[in-house]
Amino acid sequence: MKVTLARIADIHEDRALEVDFFGRSILLVKAGDRINAFANTCTHAAGPLLFEDGRFRCEWHGATFNARSGQREDGPGPYPLIRLPTRVEGDDLVYVYGE
Ligand code: FES
Repeated sequence: MKVTLARIADIHEDRALEVDFFGRSILLVKAGDRINAFANTCTHAAGPLLFEDGRFRCEWHGATFNARSGQREDGPGPYPLIRLPTRVEGDDLVYVYGE
C-alpha cells in the first residue's frame, strides 16, 4: 500500500506541514537529512501537537518531543511519537506499508 502524503518541496525544517491521512492529522517535518511523519497525537492523553523551536509540544499538558527521533524530551508523554513509515519517491513523500 502506498499513499502520497505531500510534495517534498512543501516540507520544511522551521515548520510542520499538517496533512490528512484517512481522517487523521499527520505532521511532516524535515529534521536534518530526514523527513519525519508523525501522528498529531501526544502519547500522554492524545492531545494535539504544535511545532515550535524545533520540537513538538503538546498543547494540553506541555510534553515535548524531539522532531528528529520522536522521543519525549520533557513532560508526561510516556512513549515516543507514532511515526509513519515513509519514503521519497520522485518529488513526493509517500506512506508505505507492507512493501
Ligand atoms: S496529552 Fe499531551 S502532555 Fe498530556
